[in-house]
Amino acid sequence: MRDFTVLGLETSCDETAASVVRGRAPGPGEILSNVVLSQLEEHAPYGGVVPEIAARAHVEVLDRLIEEALAQAKLELSDLDAIAATAGPGLIGGVMVGLTTAKALALASGKPLVAINHLEAHALTARLTHGATFPFLLLLISGGHCQLLAVEGVGKFKLYGSTIDDAVGEAFDKTAKLLGLAYPGGPNVEKLAKNGDGKRFSLPRPLRGRGIADFSFSGLKTAVRQIAKGESFKESDRADLAASFQRAVLDILMDRSRIAMEMFRKDFPDEAAPDFVVAGGVAANRAIGDAIQKLCEENGFNKKIPPPGLCTDNAAMVAWAGVERSQLGLFDGLGVAPRARWPLSGSSQGGEPDREDTGKGLAC
Ligand code: KG4
Ligand code: ZN
Repeated sequence: MRDFTVLGLETSCDETAASVVRGRAPGPGEILSNVVLSQLEEHAPYGGVVPEIAARAHVEVLDRLIEEALAQAKLELSDLDAIAATAGPGLIGGVMVGLTTAKALALASGKPLVAINHLEAHALTARLTHGATFPFLLLLISGGHCQLLAVEGVGKFKLYGSTIDDAVGEAFDKTAKLLGLAYPGGPNVEKLAKNGDGKRFSLPRPLRGRGIADFSFSGLKTAVRQIAKGESFKESDRADLAASFQRAVLDILMDRSRIAMEMFRKDFPDEAAPDFVVAGGVAANRAIGDAIQKLCEENGFNKKIPPPGLCTDNAAMVAWAGVERSQLGLFDGLGVAPRARWPLSGSSQGGEPDREDTGKGLAC
């Protein structure tokens, strides 16, 4: 099997990104360029991402980023095997900008289009960086998602557990806000937690002891709010609360991961030392990475976490998902629709019939 070279575009949230990646499954692949422009400043005054502002900002910079990504890779459009773009899930205005641009490029260059599920792109990143092999267990922790899944192949996922309320990144961001830290809160909470005592405040571990791999973070968030808004809470307590929150999150993630490891062992009894992949923005957290390492050593899994810059949103992961799909001939027609919602499991993936089912899954 030959190498594939794919341009990837990412515009589903507040990062505009373009990247060229070359390689073949199972990886690792080669990142020829990886340009990411964050819209942090545009959204900062609002303390979160404003969809309309995000979509407009993507329109303004995407053309330039694509030119830059191709120039850094020293390639022309004609050198590519395919054009890939995130087609969902995400903020629909932004997704439309990236997908429509990719369609225009595909039409103009005669190259095939690959419509990428953003979550699948996160899921497959550890193959780009580490050559992770199927089947592997995936902990997907981002601003919008918190799931444990078995990844059996491209487009082939089995859900073990997911959040029944907030995503873990959201819990980090809301805790950051309560502690007066800037958005996006995850990295700032992690920094502050380093100087704090994680045992100082007693916080709940929702769903613990139930033997299921689902998550819940809203009770934890409420408990953090009650402490932070309490009369006796002082500026000097902030680091202790950040550390106590992060410790609670760690406990929850490790408890559910351990349960999912058992589920995975039952489903794949022949896998002697399977990979345990952590993906999504929250995977950039060092304390979480260290705890996962220990858990993997205890349970005979191989920890594979991409470097921080490839855990948070980027286009190299989209280009890589494009490489994997191109290799399997899983291309999409120019009629493929953007999707605000697009779950990894329970919906059709892998080029199965309902991928072209235009309109379904759109929240707007
Ligand atoms: O994957 P991502 O870049 O965007 C989504 O698809 O959601 O994830 C962003 C999330 C944000 O909630 C951010 O606060 C969180 O990832 N995050 C972190 C860290 N870095 C980013 N959370 C905890 N610790 C970090 N170091
Ligand atoms: Zn993401």
